[in-house]
Amino acid sequence: MSITAQELEILSTKAIAAKASAYCPYSKFRVGACILTASGEFIVGANVENASYPVGTCAERVAFGTAIVAGHKEFKALAVATDIKPAASPCGMCRQCIREFTGPSFPVYMYDGDGSYKVMTMEELLPDSFGPGDL
Ligand code: THU
Repeated sequence: MSITAQELEILSTKAIAAKASAYCPYSKFRVGACILTASGEFIVGANVENASYPVGTCAERVAFGTAIVAGHKEFKALAVATDIKPAASPCGMCRQCIREFTGPSFPVYMYDGDGSYKVMTMEELLPDSFGPGDL
């Protein structure tokens, strides 16, 4: 499932804009995310921190939780945006979360603070992974 240039443009714009929704008073590290669903919808997320630090949630998991609860089951791409350079990539916990709902060729676009990106597949981000098919 490849995505069009127009879809990527929207995906990146929404992921970058979602940084403004981050609740990150402790780290001040804003992260925005946007998922493109198989049905063509865009679902955003941002990191939501907590005074009890481990309770905080990453942008990617907020976005996937929102998408799943909205009834989406198949996904075409994910974009993650931060303010740093080079672009940050999803943390290990988020990689496992994304793995639950995507296949090995699923693309993750990572945007830096200037809007430049690198893209990697889930297989590259989480090789030899454990997933739903293993249970
Ligand atoms: N963060 C994300 O939202 N996604 C990641 O993949 C890496 C880290 C958030 C968690 C925390 O709110 C802040 O970035 C600093 O770690």
